[in-house]
Amino acid sequence: MLRRLHPDQPDSFAFAPANLKWAKAQITKYPKGRQASAIIPLLWRAQEQEGWLSRPAIEHVADMLGMAYIRALEVATFYFMFQLQPVGSVAHIQVCGTTSCMICGAEDLMAVCKQKIAANPHEISADGKFSWEEVECLGSCSNAPMAQIGKDYYEDLTAERFGEIIDELADGRVPVPGPQNGRYAAEPLSGLTSLQEFDSGRTQFNASAQLAHDLGETVKRIDGTEVPILTPWLGKAKGKSATMKAAKPAAAKPGKPAANAAGKQKKPRVMKAPRKNGADDLKMIKGVGPKLEKLLHSLGFYHYDQISKWDAREVAWVDENLEGFKGRVSRDGWVKQAMILAKGGQTEFSKRAKY
Ligand code: FES
Repeated sequence: MLRRLHPDQPDSFAFAPANLKWAKAQITKYPKGRQASAIIPLLWRAQEQEGWLSRPAIEHVADMLGMAYIRALEVATFYFMFQLQPVGSVAHIQVCGTTSCMICGAEDLMAVCKQKIAANPHEISADGKFSWEEVECLGSCSNAPMAQIGKDYYEDLTAERFGEIIDELADGRVPVPGPQNGRYAAEPLSGLTSLQEFDSGRTQFNASAQLAHDLGETVKRIDGTEVPILTPWLGKAKGKSATMKAAKPAAAKPGKPAANAAGKQKKPRVMKAPRKNGADDLKMIKGVGPKLEKLLHSLGFYHYDQISKWDAREVAWVDENLEGFKGRVSRDGWVKQAMILAKGGQTEFSKRAKY
């Protein structure tokens, strides 16, 4: 299936204020120079806000992460979870059409979609409220046939019940997700035959359906105010909220290290060649493979004791100059490893690497 940007695009995109805070907080999860790793959560939040991913939204996220537009477009067009065309204002319905669901009535569900929503997948209903598509297995095969509506699963569906659910949503109600035929979860239709003692004290609906019911955001467009923004990875002092500034995306142009102007980097002392006895095996440092070892040699680093002496500014310089491997020195703690190896000791990794 061709996945292309929609011909009609909005002029611009902006995150809602709380979503922007959330997005900036996500970026701080990743080491310096690795901000692009936040691409999927940020695109997803943009879609949760708007219902689909427009070109301005994709480019906005790319700008936030210091990425070339084409790289963000590659991600957005590769994953089917990203909707590249407008969806219904109330809900986009995804009907599973894989084996279990197909033999249990998925075609009947799609007939309901064609009748109540639109003749073709990804076409918006006349009232603008719904769109639908057939998707691959959603992992709820024991409750086939099923459909994902917004964020939640509606399972054990019949064509009749599915039609009612769409009508209820059109009326502004949100039916309780989960099995729709009286089953609690995925137990046998005839009832439990084992573990019956766990039957008492359970919640009204199964855990997933109960949570969905309690949150009540099945088809809600997320504006970031739904739950507090937590950043435990930043430690206690900063971890309470996401009011912190996001780490600056690496704005390096090819061949030109970024951030050097800030004076936070210093080139370590280098050697023209290894000492008489030859270079140390730098691959004993976790995170250094044959390619990186070669790169380190080309930069003038051959020995553990060289690496063991790098201070924070020198680490920042090397991290920035490892083309294609930026950020590896701090990510894998090379300096600490090199200190041990330089003294003739072994790290957990070097012990394993030898055998
Ligand atoms: S086949 Fe439909 S959920 Fe697996």
